[in-house]
Amino acid sequence: MAGSFVAVVGAIGGGFTLIILFTSLFYFLHYRKFSNKDSETGSSDPSAVGQLEGRQFRMEELEQATREFNESNLIGCGSFGLVYKGLLCDGTVVAIKRRNGRPRQEFIKEVAYLSAIQHRNLVNLLGYCQERGSQMLVYEYSPNGSICTHLYDYGKDAITKLEFKQRLSIAIGAAKGLCHLHGLQPPVVHGNFKTANVLVDENFIAKVADAKVSELLRKIEDVGSSSSTSLNAFRDPELGEGGTFRETNDIYSFGMFLLELISGKKATYEEAFGSNHSMLQWVQGHLISNDLIDHRLIGSFTEQGMRDLLKLTIKCMSFPGTNRPRMENVALELDQIREEEITRTIIMGEGTETITPGSHLFTN
Ligand SMILES: *[C@@H]1O[C@H](CO)[C@@H](O)[C@H](O)[C@H]1NC(C)=O
Ligand SMILES: *[C@@H]1O[C@H](CO)[C@@H](O)[C@H](O)[C@H]1NC(C)=O
Ligand SMILES: *[C@@H]1O[C@H](CO)[C@@H](O)[C@H](O)[C@H]1NC(C)=O
Repeated sequence: MAGSFVAVVGAIGGGFTLIILFTSLFYFLHYRKFSNKDSETGSSDPSAVGQLEGRQFRMEELEQATREFNESNLIGCGSFGLVYKGLLCDGTVVAIKRRNGRPRQEFIKEVAYLSAIQHRNLVNLLGYCQERGSQMLVYEYSPNGSICTHLYDYGKDAITKLEFKQRLSIAIGAAKGLCHLHGLQPPVVHGNFKTANVLVDENFIAKVADAKVSELLRKIEDVGSSSSTSLNAFRDPELGEGGTFRETNDIYSFGMFLLELISGKKATYEEAFGSNHSMLQWVQGHLISNDLIDHRLIGSFTEQGMRDLLKLTIKCMSFPGTNRPRMENVALELDQIREEEITRTIIMGEGTETITPGSHLFTN
C-alpha cells in the first residue's frame, strides 16, 4: 500500500514538474516573442513592413462591420473624417475613419508605413480601404474614448473622477507613445498631438491616436491643404506657416496637454504662451487667482508633486524650442514625479487639502 502511494505521488509529482517545465518554456518563448514586438525601447522598424503591412479591407466587410455605416455606430468626427465603431467578422472591434477622396497610391504607401509602427501606448493602425470614392483608415478600438471626455467634455454622463496620480499615469502613457515615435529611425513626429488624440482603453491605459495623420492628409488632399493652423492651442507658436514639424513641436503640444490635465479645462489659445517670460507670468497669475489647478484634484496631490509637474509643463513649453526636454526625458521625469508622489502620499496620507496660491510654487 505504502509503496503504491509513493508511486502515485511520484507520478503526480513528475507530471507536475513536467507541466511546470512546459509552462515556463512556453512563457519563455512567448515572452520573448512578445517583448520583441512590444518592447518600449526597442524600435519597430517601419521600413521592415513585411507581415505588419497594413491590411486591405473590402468595402463590404466594413459595411457589414458598421451596419452600412449606421448613424448609431458613429462615434466621432476627427481631422480625417467621420469615425465609426465597427465589429469585424473575427470579433475584433475597430474604429473606422472615413473621408471622401480619389484613390491614391500614396495613401496605401503611407498606411503601410504607419501600420508597421506598433506600440502599446499608440492606437495601432490595422489597415485601410480605398473604394468607391472613400478612403478609410481602420484602427484598433479604445473602449474608453478620448481623455477629453473624462476631463471636461462629459456632457451629462457620469464623470470619471481622475485623481492626480491617475492623471500622471495617463501622461506617462501618452509620453511613452510619443517617445516611441520619436525614437524610430528616422524619428516620426506626431504633428497633431492634443488631448483629444489621447485615448484610453478598458484599463485606462493611454494610447496616442492619429500619429502623422495630418501629414498624410496634406499628402493626399487634392486641393492645397486647408488644415486650420490658426489659433490652435496645441500648435507650437514657433512653427511657421507651412513649416516642417520637428520633435520639439510635439513637446510643446505635450506641454499643453499637461496643462489641461492640471487644469481640467480645455486650453484656449493664449498669446501669453509665446515666450518663457509671458508663460511664467500667465501661470503665476492664475495660481494667485486660484483658477489654474483643477479643484476636483484637491485632496489628491501634494504641493511638491504639483510643483514638479508644473515645472515640467513649463519646460516643455519653453523658448526657443531647442531648450525643451526630449520626450524620453519627459517620460522619465513624469515617472519619477509619480513615484515620488506615491511615496509621499503613503507617508503623509492623501495630499493637501488646500492649494497654496501664489508664486512660491516656483521658488525652487
Ligand atoms: C441603424 O441602427 C438602428 C438602431 O440600432 C436601427 O434601428 C436601424 O434599423 C439601423 N439602420 C440600418 C440601415 O441598418
Ligand atoms: C472605462 O473603463 C472602465 C473599466 O473597464 C469601465 O468600468 C467604464 O465603464 C469605462 N467608462 C466608459 C465611459 O466607457
Ligand atoms: C526658457 O526657459 C528654459 C528653461 O525652462 C531655458 O533653458 C531657456 O534658456 C529659456 N529661454 C530664454 C530665452 O530665456
